[in-house]
Amino acid sequence: MDLILLPQMAYPVPAACYVVLATALVVYAQRHSQPESHVHYAQLGSNVTVPCGSVDQDAPVTWTANSTDLDASLLNGSRLVLQSVDLSHSGQYSCYEGSSWHLKYRVNLKVGLPPKEPVLMCRSNNYPNGFYCSWHLPSPTYIPDTFNITVMHDSKEITCEKEAAPKNRCYIRYLHLFSSKKYKVTLTVANALGSNSTTISFDEFAIVKPDPPENVVAKPISSNARRLLVTWQYPSSWPDPDSFPLKFFLRYRPLIIDQWQHVELTDGTSHIITDAYAGKEYIIQVAAKDNEIGTWSDWSVAVHATPWTEEPKHLTTEAQGAETTTASTSAFVVPPTTRIDSSDEAGSDGAAALSVLLGLLLGLCGIHLI
Ligand SMILES: *[C@@H]1O[C@H](CO)[C@@H](O)[C@H](O)[C@H]1NC(C)=O
Ligand SMILES: *[C@@H]1O[C@H](CO)[C@@H](O)[C@H](O)[C@H]1NC(C)=O
Ligand SMILES: *[C@@H]1O[C@H](CO)[C@@H](O)[C@H](O)[C@H]1NC(C)=O
Ligand SMILES: *[C@@H]1O[C@H](CO)[C@@H](O)[C@H](O)[C@H]1NC(C)=O
Ligand SMILES: *[C@@H]1O[C@H](CO)[C@@H](O)[C@H](O)[C@H]1NC(C)=O
Repeated sequence: MDLILLPQMAYPVPAACYVVLATALVVYAQRHSQPESHVHYAQLGSNVTVPCGSVDQDAPVTWTANSTDLDASLLNGSRLVLQSVDLSHSGQYSCYEGSSWHLKYRVNLKVGLPPKEPVLMCRSNNYPNGFYCSWHLPSPTYIPDTFNITVMHDSKEITCEKEAAPKNRCYIRYLHLFSSKKYKVTLTVANALGSNSTTISFDEFAIVKPDPPENVVAKPISSNARRLLVTWQYPSSWPDPDSFPLKFFLRYRPLIIDQWQHVELTDGTSHIITDAYAGKEYIIQVAAKDNEIGTWSDWSVAVHATPWTEEPKHLTTEAQGAETTTASTSAFVVPPTTRIDSSDEAGSDGAAALSVLLGLLLGLCGIHLI
């Protein structure tokens, strides 16, 4: 729609009219300009006092939370006072001036906690290539946190390359192998309410922990009622088995007995269990460790097998891992409810009011809208 201002020539428009019109528009713009929304972080359990912007402390005001009017008992003059805030106090708060309902101040209150001491762990599962460090907070802060990690070695800082996923992890390449100097890793976590940090220091060797052996398979041995053949492979993340051989640890027990038997194997990737109970189903797991350094891996997935019998009672089952695979569940995403922003409402109301006002003024000034 085109609006054309057409002054009527027959009746010269008094200049004063334009002045009034301009003034009205300026006032309108001032009243309906959106005060920027501030963000205010408050600590869980604290008392929060929010002033209504620059409005006088004794001026009559109305506060809303998420567009709902707040009780006057929450006010001290024009200031909003929230006692012992909890998470549900988070939200959009707006302050309107007395009778005119002009929006004077908006604040997005975010209730949270300063971070606790972060938990930091470094590990090499691909020695001698490098190691990664990962971290998490022992409890949530409910507000955004930033993490800063610094790795020092031999008084030089080394870059810890952030990985795309998982986010709380970074990777360091060993620059000097077989170094006797310790690594020192400092993690600082900060948010709007505070910061905390933790430092660990360790030797290159101490953090070596391979991933568990892979493709573990256990099979009965034909015509032998007390034997089981167990085979496995190096963890695929272990880069150089020739230069850095692993040793293995096997544990096995009949399903019906709660006590494990152990065998440590310094060579090879297979083992024959010779003392199995005839006809009993066994559960078997394998762990790995560098021959010289570091610590044992976690246990591999458990496999089940039953020694050979004249008429096999059980078929061998392979990796039980499938059991732990969770069925994919469809996520029921609740559609976000449409939130009506009070300020937008005020905006459209204001627009209607403006057109009425404009029409009135234009009429007074003798201007016709075509
Ligand atoms: C919050 O205010 C109440 C009442 O004024 C007071 O008793 C309490 O100690 C205050 N709490 C904090 C954390 O300041
Ligand atoms: C209101 O705030 C003033 C100034 O901070 C304070 O002295 C007074 O005690 C408060 N009144 C109430 C009822 O909390
Ligand atoms: C405001 O809305 C948010 C999101 O729906 C909610 O979590 C919060 O508790 C509400 N705050 C208040 C004070 O009602
Ligand atoms: C860091 O977190 C610990 C608890 O993990 C806490 O006791 C300590 O006060 C926190 N330090 C700071 C500076 O907030
Ligand atoms: C991280 O911490 C280091 C050392 O404390 C500091 O030099 C660096 O500026 C920090 N980086 C960020 C992004 O805060």
